[in-house]
Amino acid sequence: MAGGPGRYVFGDEERKELLDVMETGNLFRYGEIGKDGFCGKVVTFEQEMAERLGHKHVFATSSGTSSLLCCLAALGIGAGDEVIVPGYTFIASISSIALSMAVPVLAEIDESLTIDPTKIEALITPRTKAIVPVHMLGNPCDMDPIMEIAKKHNLYVIEDCCQAVGASYKGRRVGTIGDMGAYSLNTFKTITSGDGGFVGTSDDDLYERGFGFHDQGHKPCRQGVEVGNRSMLGMNFRMNELSGAVALAQGRKLDNILETLREKKAALKAQLQGIEGLGFRTINDPGECATLLTLLFDTKELADKFCAAAGTAPIAKSGWHVYNNMEQILNRVTAAKVNCPYSCPRYDEPRTYAKHMLPQTDDILDRAVNISIGVVDKGLGSGTGINVNSSMEEINEVAANIRKIIAECK
Ligand SMILES: Cc1ncc(COP(=O)(O)O)c(C=O)c1O
Repeated sequence: MAGGPGRYVFGDEERKELLDVMETGNLFRYGEIGKDGFCGKVVTFEQEMAERLGHKHVFATSSGTSSLLCCLAALGIGAGDEVIVPGYTFIASISSIALSMAVPVLAEIDESLTIDPTKIEALITPRTKAIVPVHMLGNPCDMDPIMEIAKKHNLYVIEDCCQAVGASYKGRRVGTIGDMGAYSLNTFKTITSGDGGFVGTSDDDLYERGFGFHDQGHKPCRQGVEVGNRSMLGMNFRMNELSGAVALAQGRKLDNILETLREKKAALKAQLQGIEGLGFRTINDPGECATLLTLLFDTKELADKFCAAAGTAPIAKSGWHVYNNMEQILNRVTAAKVNCPYSCPRYDEPRTYAKHMLPQTDDILDRAVNISIGVVDKGLGSGTGINVNSSMEEINEVAANIRKIIAECK
């Protein structure tokens, strides 16, 4: 079954929260708890998630993509601004920048498969406004040097936590280190409501601006169904009570899910130590989500042979998380240049995106293979492996099979 760990542990808790909402038929996120059958699932999810992760504020959204758009809008990032983002990420980290009329500037990753902090400063220009570190495959980015660079150059940091809900870096949950964190609850994520997401921040003004943007410009935020003050332009990226009900139940399972994933990953990884030609991606903090085990072979040749025998693909060829496979952006000038309805002198040097423009990223992804621990997703290259419910016997079997295939590849 394709999906993330949250999908695998769907049970009575989610059904109960959903039934509460279904019995009253009050599906809109606003209301007075207890009045007209309003259950307040979304607002309860927001409060619990803020407390769980250590944000002052959280607001729920319709997706990780809309969460990123809300962060960019809240920070006032727009026409002509440049935003640094890694070339290995889901397309939404890039398209949300381009469709905010800003310019995505692609950065190299390192062997953690997250943005290489040593390659960021060379990309900074007078137009750079923000960095978007993506906590890819559940692995927290190395946030200390990133935050140092951001501080030195006066840049905003939007953490893309879509693949890393609940992960932590040096004792802080991801999303609480930069200015804002954007999270996804789609079906492949640590916890899920089918689709959905949320934004976290501890800055009152950013919260109000982000919330207003997600709710047709209501700023200050409206607390109920009444129409409040609409002081800005916004969109409708609200979560409804059905998604909120499932998200609420899943949120309560988050830390158990992470604990289980870390145990299972450790058990599998322990059995793959000491194999010649095989290493692993760098894990920046043991607080990672452990949703995936990434094998990092010494050579592309060995990775290719392994994949052919295992019926999988190296990350470089595994789908649309790699800039080389993003046909939407390749060989095009940035959307800001193409779509901008008015002329702006800052567009003098449009950016183009070409295959193999990030040689370090290409080299790493050619040698990297994802094995599922909890995210079973062929599009991420992790169609095989184990899942959050796998038994020790299954883990042993997968480990033995990987060892056998590698031995036969040599
Ligand atoms: C790194 C990253 N950013 C953003 C998104 C977008 O999230 P959603 O699918 O909820 O819009 C995803 C989803 O796959 C993602 O993996």
